[in-house]
Amino acid sequence: MQDLAHYMRPGTLQLGSLPPLALYVHLPWCLRKCPYCDFNSHAAPEALPEAQYLDALQADLEHSLPLIWGRGVHSIFIGGGTPSLFSPQSIERLLSDIRARVRLEADCEITLEANPGTFEKDRFRAFRAAGVTRLSIGVQSFNDRLLQAIGRVHDASQAHAAAQEAAECFETFNLDLMYALPGQTEAELAHDLQQALSHAPPHLSVYHLTLEPNTWFAKHPPVLPDEDTAYAMLDRITADTLAAGMHRYEISAYARDGHRCRHNLNYWQFGDYLGIGAGAHSKLSFAHRVVRQVRHRDPRLYLQTAHDPARPERAVASSTEVSRQDLPFEYMLNALRLRHGFSLQDFQERTGLPLSAIEAPLREAETRGLIHRDWQRVVPTERGFDFLSDLQSLFLPPEPEGLQSPPQTHLT
Ligand SMILES: C[S@@+](CC[C@H](N)C(=O)[O-])C[C@H]1O[C@@H](n2cnc3c(N)ncnc32)[C@H](O)[C@@H]1O
Ligand code: SF4
Repeated sequence: MQDLAHYMRPGTLQLGSLPPLALYVHLPWCLRKCPYCDFNSHAAPEALPEAQYLDALQADLEHSLPLIWGRGVHSIFIGGGTPSLFSPQSIERLLSDIRARVRLEADCEITLEANPGTFEKDRFRAFRAAGVTRLSIGVQSFNDRLLQAIGRVHDASQAHAAAQEAAECFETFNLDLMYALPGQTEAELAHDLQQALSHAPPHLSVYHLTLEPNTWFAKHPPVLPDEDTAYAMLDRITADTLAAGMHRYEISAYARDGHRCRHNLNYWQFGDYLGIGAGAHSKLSFAHRVVRQVRHRDPRLYLQTAHDPARPERAVASSTEVSRQDLPFEYMLNALRLRHGFSLQDFQERTGLPLSAIEAPLREAETRGLIHRDWQRVVPTERGFDFLSDLQSLFLPPEPEGLQSPPQTHLT
């Protein structure tokens, strides 16, 4: 059992109530590593240690229960990596292990990430039967040349087959697309989008390809479309999805009414989440503090530590209290991604801070035309959405000259 004492001791924050709670489960293996990817994913060994990993997840969850005792879970996201490499039987066992330990809300959303080319016919139906309610498919593109350029293991016909099977088996599903791919033209992006929309997805996530440090692409950068072309692509995405009845409710997410992703909305609304599995991140609130945890990233180390009674912290590699100064920026990193912004009441409830903590940057953002606000809500303007990181950075804690911001308090 985790030592709760340090989470419960008095602190400088006052949270009147705790936010909704979600559960994230990380499955860290893929067929092979994509050259742009900095997620905690590893090329799968010949035989996946599925049962061993499920045992570790079970131990990890059990060990974390004191931190979320009595709280209901409203969404589960099984992400990766490539969770669809796990068999439907394993996913069924995972969900029953979870149900036996935490109270799931009646309408709990349960998403599984699936990659085209990692399943045979009827696998998605079996995931549905195992209790998954929503599938998120990493399509990225429907263009064979572009799929090859970004090192994907699947081709366009497998992407179509996956989208079609998701539409047949699930009432709601998401397709992930990326744009501004190596050598991609505006016409190719328009074609990709049209192919995606032909499957009438209830939800689309569309990401600008970024070159992340420590990836193959960072060392061997491909030639990418210029900034103006990328902006034109984004305008196209917003217009075509709107014409198809989808609304851009978050900087990268488009949905039909009633199909927003509850799990991701919870992140953006600064809700709580317990993350189990290799490298998973958690954010948990207590009456006087907000705590972040990270599990060991290396799957072997995770497997070793999750059950090890000699380690009181088990698979938790770090546990950090978010400082009072950092909370406004952390909140804004999430909430300002939302088209409808946030309510001032939510800010106070979720951070435990008074509104005076953000009055100066809010005034600055308003003067620069980056937000609208009234006495209830703060909403990014079109300009604020276009220059989101400038807007968010207004909420960074002030750094006294020559000094770093005060270190966060380490709990383990
Ligand atoms: C956690 S990843 C994994 C999903 C799944 N394994 C896959 O690759 O299909 C979720 C999504 O993030 C996006 N993504 C990953 N790396 C990215 C990058 N460097 N730039 C932009 N989007 C990225 C991809 O669209 C991907 O589907
Ligand atoms: S399949 Fe997804 S998680 Fe795996 S390496 Fe590729 S982008 Fe990363």
